[in-house]
Amino acid sequence: MAGGGLAVQGEVKNYNGKVTFFVIVTCMVAATGGLIFGYDIGVSGGVTSMNVFLEKFFPSVYEDQINAGPSKNQWCSFNSQLLTVFTSSLYIAGLISTFFASTVTRVLGRKASMLCGGAAFLIGSALNGAAVNVVMLIVGRVLLGVGVGFANQAVPLYLSEIAPPNLRGALNIGFQLATTIGILIANLVNYGTNKIEGGYGWRISVALAAVPAGIMTVGALFLPDTPNSLIERGKLETARRTLQKVRGTDDVGEELQDMVEASESAKQVQHPWKNILQRHYRPQLVMALSIPAFQQLTGINIIMFYAPVLFKTIGFGDNASLMSAVITGLVNVGATFVSIVTVDRFGRKFLFAEGGVQMLISQVAIAAILGVKFGVDGTGVMSKPYADAVVVLICTYVAAFAWSWGPLGWLVPSEIFPLEIRSAGQSIVVGVNFLWTFIVAQFFLVALCHLKFGLFLLFAFFVAVMTLFVTLLLPETKNVPIEEMNLVWKKHWYWKNYIPDEHRVVA
Ligand code: BGC
Repeated sequence: MAGGGLAVQGEVKNYNGKVTFFVIVTCMVAATGGLIFGYDIGVSGGVTSMNVFLEKFFPSVYEDQINAGPSKNQWCSFNSQLLTVFTSSLYIAGLISTFFASTVTRVLGRKASMLCGGAAFLIGSALNGAAVNVVMLIVGRVLLGVGVGFANQAVPLYLSEIAPPNLRGALNIGFQLATTIGILIANLVNYGTNKIEGGYGWRISVALAAVPAGIMTVGALFLPDTPNSLIERGKLETARRTLQKVRGTDDVGEELQDMVEASESAKQVQHPWKNILQRHYRPQLVMALSIPAFQQLTGINIIMFYAPVLFKTIGFGDNASLMSAVITGLVNVGATFVSIVTVDRFGRKFLFAEGGVQMLISQVAIAAILGVKFGVDGTGVMSKPYADAVVVLICTYVAAFAWSWGPLGWLVPSEIFPLEIRSAGQSIVVGVNFLWTFIVAQFFLVALCHLKFGLFLLFAFFVAVMTLFVTLLLPETKNVPIEEMNLVWKKHWYWKNYIPDEHRVVA
């Protein structure tokens, strides 16, 4: 039996439990939340580059594009705020709704939040697919944001709590894998619908988001809630039965007991939001604020949102640009698998460090090529070998992100919070992530116009800072049961100062 033989600084915990069919199905359905998130990341860049869509909803941008002569300055040729507002408004809606999701997740359960998210997403994609004016488009977009806000709050928690501890990392990355697959599917769909005659292709692109949303909504109806959440809501017997079913054994007494104890200490905490500010939660709070911000400051969404634009900037034609975006999408999916098989073996810190160094080298090399070829005035032509080199470097960068900060940026925060602040903590993570996604999406094109190739050096600088940060300040959480997580802070050279003895096993 694959028990979680887990060593935390000398402590060994042996829970009975194996990867049951039930765990796999549960995680697959929950991971469709990631599919929705990814589809949405990928779809907006494509539709906003379709002329019919622009003409209908953003006529002034369309006119500008039609009337613009060949741009002299490559760095500024795509600097349009209106379109970035369309892309990034979703993240503001997600940011706000994730805080409502926190209460729903805690009071009504993880499953209830997944249902809310799925429903909002279904209505949002229907509105977008049928949009006849900008208002419908924006309201739909806001609902998609609400859906993503709920799903991203509840799904990673759900996965962390259902997974056996020794496989928590790998299963949780199912969420990220689904995200990358969602992005790739969106890229491929856009590529196809762009070719549809009659100008309605974009409707298919945006409406297809309803497919994963439907799977998640129907799936969530049949999923059990997590044992932790059931205990939290006083349903001990259901929690025991669910845990037995999920672990595939009747012998779940010890794990259940630990969950009950964790829940009891959690109950003493009346105000999670106020509580999270207490000194002994400082390490978790610092991680909840910094990890998602750093994830976005890697610059990944420049590639995810604007890859076709970037490839056009370096001289590729429309088709080649779209194909290159599909290639980076494939690399993104493939490299996420690497993370799945290594994260519980090599640990989180190793992946963070390797990914950081690889991203940094790629970014500096990209900046160097762009700097040499386009200079500060943004003029010049890039010959094919150089353009190909940029594509290869973008792929090495995306691969590094996809096995480090991509999955770990969600996994690590979801596993470090004790139950009493878990829901609030996860909302902060989602909120901070969306805030920085918004900031990066909103300011990238204007920053490119001003900082030119230096923008890639700026992101490289952020990557250097975050790599140092995790090396020094993040304890290894590989194979640590979620209920035992407090011990890792207690043993950490810096964070131990924040955890008084009586909070050692609050979990
Ligand atoms: C990030 C997204 C990003 C995606 C790329 C996710 O972990 O949160 O912002 O677009 O990875 O695969």
